[in-house]
Amino acid sequence: MKEQLIKVKSPANIAFIKYWGQTDSENVLPANDSFSMNLSGCYTELEMELVVDINVKELYIKDYKAEDYKKNEGDALQKVVTFYDRAAEYLQVKTDVGFRVKAANSFPKKAGIASSASFFSALAAAFSTAFEKKLETKQLSVLARLSGSGSASRSVPDGYVFWHRGISSESSFAESIAPPDYWDIVDLVALVTLDEKKVSSVDGHRCAQTSPYFADRQRQLAKRTPLIVNKFRKKDFEGFGTMVEEEAVSLHSIMMTQKPPLYYWSGMTLDVMRETATLRKKGIEAYCTTDAGENVHIITRRIYEEKVKDHFKNMNFVKEILTNYPCEGVRVL
Ligand code: PMV
Repeated sequence: MKEQLIKVKSPANIAFIKYWGQTDSENVLPANDSFSMNLSGCYTELEMELVVDINVKELYIKDYKAEDYKKNEGDALQKVVTFYDRAAEYLQVKTDVGFRVKAANSFPKKAGIASSASFFSALAAAFSTAFEKKLETKQLSVLARLSGSGSASRSVPDGYVFWHRGISSESSFAESIAPPDYWDIVDLVALVTLDEKKVSSVDGHRCAQTSPYFADRQRQLAKRTPLIVNKFRKKDFEGFGTMVEEEAVSLHSIMMTQKPPLYYWSGMTLDVMRETATLRKKGIEAYCTTDAGENVHIITRRIYEEKVKDHFKNMNFVKEILTNYPCEGVRVL
């Protein structure tokens, strides 16, 4: 192993069909297929310095708008080291390497904007480069999934991405179903809070099946998933957006009824959702979706982008708006 610096950039993604619940937590196999778009404005830039001393395993994170990197120990570092071991096993690497990871986020972490997806997909690409393994996109998505943040698999391919749930580790992978320039969709994240959520999605997935509505959701998804892809293929934005919003509400109905319940939404989340419905009445096509967090992704099209921004600029509960266009997946720079 030679000392070197590996640089990677990877986007977060927003799911139109959500992953919630697993059939195999050890292998991170999801209960259902999911479908997402990579986010151009929300990404992690990661640098991995490989060092000769194999005892060096360090993690530094620069948060959104922070001036400097902060050394992370405890849980955050442990997750990186566990993933390192898993990556070595998956890639059948016997030699150990020392590393210093520095990761900078262009957006707030743990706030419902998939910061673990951008971070772990970047880390997957960095580890495979460190181990001198050239992986195809499909394999790299499998490796990213094994980080524990399953949605990281969807940040690997370009543009609009479908994650096949699979029945084994190798068959659970993500692939691009359309390039970034396929459709002029815009995701405007209405930031109502910068606070970190209290319960991680990893913990949330474990209890999803305790919701009395979980089985029902899986039945609905068997219909909703091909339908939403169909609306996407036809570029029927009204049909697509309506289903995207319906799907987000379905996800949160599971979260709120699982045991213990997870209430990620706040009053401000609902305020943004109501205001978006008001915009629709004025002919502005915009729909909401939310992940495991309070912040809201407003899905719209380029022609409505400025109008949506203008509307929310005047709302005191929206602190900031992050703009995202569909973009490529992870890249080693
Ligand atoms: O990949 P995880 O473990 O961070 O879970 C992601 C869960 C959701 O963001 C709520 C849904 C999704 O598909 O992105």
